[in-house]
Amino acid sequence: MIQKMKARNFLFMVLLAAAAGCAKAPVQLPLVDPAAFGGELDGKKVELFTLKNESGMTVQITNFGGRVVDLWVPDKNGKMEDVVLGYATLDGYLQSNEIYFGTLVGRYGNRIGQARFAIGDSVYVLAANNGANHLHGGVKGFNNVVWDAVQNDEGTLLLSYLSPDGEEGYPGNLQVNVTYELTSDNELKIEYRATTDKATPVNLTHHSYFNLKGAGVGDINDHLLMINAAAFTPVDSGLIPTGEIASVEGTPFDFRQPTAVGARVNEDHQQLKYGLGYDHNWVLTPADSGLTLAARVVEPVSGRTMEVYTNEPGIQFYGGNFLNGQDTGKNGMVYHHRGALCLETQHFPDSPNQQQFPSTLLEPGQEYYSVCIYKFGVEDTAAK
Ligand code: BGC
Repeated sequence: MIQKMKARNFLFMVLLAAAAGCAKAPVQLPLVDPAAFGGELDGKKVELFTLKNESGMTVQITNFGGRVVDLWVPDKNGKMEDVVLGYATLDGYLQSNEIYFGTLVGRYGNRIGQARFAIGDSVYVLAANNGANHLHGGVKGFNNVVWDAVQNDEGTLLLSYLSPDGEEGYPGNLQVNVTYELTSDNELKIEYRATTDKATPVNLTHHSYFNLKGAGVGDINDHLLMINAAAFTPVDSGLIPTGEIASVEGTPFDFRQPTAVGARVNEDHQQLKYGLGYDHNWVLTPADSGLTLAARVVEPVSGRTMEVYTNEPGIQFYGGNFLNGQDTGKNGMVYHHRGALCLETQHFPDSPNQQQFPSTLLEPGQEYYSVCIYKFGVEDTAAK
């Protein structure tokens, strides 16, 4: 009898061990440690928040600039990788040469020519932080402020910031609320809302540097890019739009069919010289209804894909031309020239000075609303 029980117990243990072996152990991602990340800035606590979905996609976001610090997505074999550039500490961001890694951008994404604009008879002079021009909201843009943050559940982070009247030269107290949401469809959804008490231009965007191979792994020349646009806005040597809406047909700016980012980047084209590569705004072909698929990126080896959806009329594709190997980020990875790309949904640069561009003016009583979705997936490129 005892023998029989022993044998049965043994069998039970063997079955249990086999079952445990088959069950998928949850993958432990080497996330940034929230306890070691932050500190205090401008009298406010800088924190790191972790968002996760059912399939394990994970994003960590700090309230310093509303920056995406890391973003873990699977490849075609389910292997997770962190696909955005960034730092494991607040100090890393403060010391960096590149001040826009992963950040929210405002009050105005991209450039305003000669750092000034007029509303009616009133001329507003902004901080000139890019030669004579104004870039990404000025010296202390929304990337450099500490936002108020509330995380209500595992998938959502609410950030808010009151940009005071006169900040960086802009008129009006602007109340900005941004929601980051990680959906069950492997989307990072960013919704921006703002209200003002005086008319002001507003153009908010997000500035993650993506490399779908993994942050710091090689360059993005081999990423295949589709941009859903038949036109772009050419720039002058200071990267201010000339006002022209130019067809992409027959130019290195035609990404209507998926094309390797590096295939034409060194062509002898004046616009590529001005941008030192791609650093331009594309005029999106809007969807008949709902959000527009603005761009799609495929990394052929890992099979990772990223789609960008928006309600905005434009997208800035910036190919990391100013990265130069001087910044060393998370896990000691060096960020080389063209080691990542940005896809920033937006209204067109310099719109406050270009009457023919869609308006960026927000009036008291109106609500600004913008949405950008980065949707991750996989494609078995080898099978094609
Ligand atoms: C701009 C670049 C700028 C970069 C800074 C991009 O959005 O278009 O010109 O150098 O941001 O990271």
